[in-house]
Amino acid sequence: MKVLVIGGGAREHALCRSLSLDPDVNALYCAPGNAGIAEVAELRPVDALDGAAVAGLATELGADLVVIGPEAPLVAGVADAVRAAGIPVFGPSAEAAQLEGSKAFAKDVMAAAGVPTARSYVCTTPEEVEAALDAFGAPYVVKDDGLAAGKGVVVTGDLDAAREHALACDRVVIEEYLDGPEVSLFAITDGTTVLPLQPAQDFKRALDGDEGPNTGGMGAYSPLPWADPKLVDEVLETVLQPTVDELRHRGTPFSGLLYAGLAITSRGVRVIEFNARFGDPETQVVLARLRTPLAGLLLNAAQGTLESQPPLAWREEAAVTVVIASHNYPGTPRTGDPIEGLAEVAAEDGPDTYVLHAGTRHEGGAVVSAGGRVLSVTATGSDLAQAREKAYKAVARIRLEGSHHRTDIAAKAAGTA
Ligand code: AMP
Ligand code: GLY
Repeated sequence: MKVLVIGGGAREHALCRSLSLDPDVNALYCAPGNAGIAEVAELRPVDALDGAAVAGLATELGADLVVIGPEAPLVAGVADAVRAAGIPVFGPSAEAAQLEGSKAFAKDVMAAAGVPTARSYVCTTPEEVEAALDAFGAPYVVKDDGLAAGKGVVVTGDLDAAREHALACDRVVIEEYLDGPEVSLFAITDGTTVLPLQPAQDFKRALDGDEGPNTGGMGAYSPLPWADPKLVDEVLETVLQPTVDELRHRGTPFSGLLYAGLAITSRGVRVIEFNARFGDPETQVVLARLRTPLAGLLLNAAQGTLESQPPLAWREEAAVTVVIASHNYPGTPRTGDPIEGLAEVAAEDGPDTYVLHAGTRHEGGAVVSAGGRVLSVTATGSDLAQAREKAYKAVARIRLEGSHHRTDIAAKAAGTA
């Protein structure tokens, strides 16, 4: 099978790594990719937001499957363009991707499907904003309606800060605060059949102890030893299947990866958000544990034949990933700094510890930073404590001036905090 992956972050590196290990894959391309992905796939330049260009590239390569990583191309209709060219594509249509592209659309689908989520108001005027903030009280949850790479959400006890963010958005969703731990649960779906993956937990805040601003995610781990073993079945029944059914009934079936961001509250499971693609950095730990070959699974989803997919197989090992971010991330990051220590990790740390690249590129003979999140250092181990130790040992070998990372990824779950 020839596979083309669209994107160039650590999630796409994790996807390409798994696809490169799949014996059914005999050619693997990534566009545009990054310096790390170049080690496992052949890179092609492409404007990932240009559907005609992506479809053209897939045709030229004779791809049997196109996998679209990030949300922006999905929302821009790139999957539709590839599908129209007659090539199977893993990723939803632009219409179905509105589940991620518009928080207001997602709320509407959830209401229609009876999916539990935070109560919310969609506001477009200062008066509506004021009334909604007043109705829910602190802590305030204020979300920009459009795509914002995880950074359009402000959760704060400060009324002025909440008001300021709300007024800076054209259309804003203001909602009830959900307490309790967060879980990211991914499901592969072809629009009818839904196959949940193993749950993971992300660390959204920039600093240790869940302090600092929201980011795209600073680290993740899986499995979740503290979670109810029935959680996945419950979420399949109350969230994933009803959402997929609702979108199919609307005539906009969702095929691809349905990501449920959940809060496990004292009153039960609630959806915080949906995403229309694999999460980053959670994908790094979920795929590290998935034993089932990835290409056939994604192709089954793309072709509407997921019903024939054998049950998924998982490794017993635990996985942890730690994100190394540029100076000033999640603000405007500094880029172009050389990254050192990658060869040491590869030489010293064994096959279960590896560095997935997010924002990196080659410059001369060096690998330099090229984005906010730069690397996602991933390790598997017999349990979370061991996976964590291995990941942090590798993090310590990496030198990137001004960079920062959290030191407490999976610490609580591993029982080491
Ligand atoms: P989102 O982009 O909707 O996932 O929001 C980003 C982060 O903000 C989430 O992962 C949560 O940590 C936090 N958040 C979003 N909505 C809520 C809510 N209703 N209650 C509490 N925290 C929230
Ligand atoms: N890790 C959060 C996301 O992918 O949206």
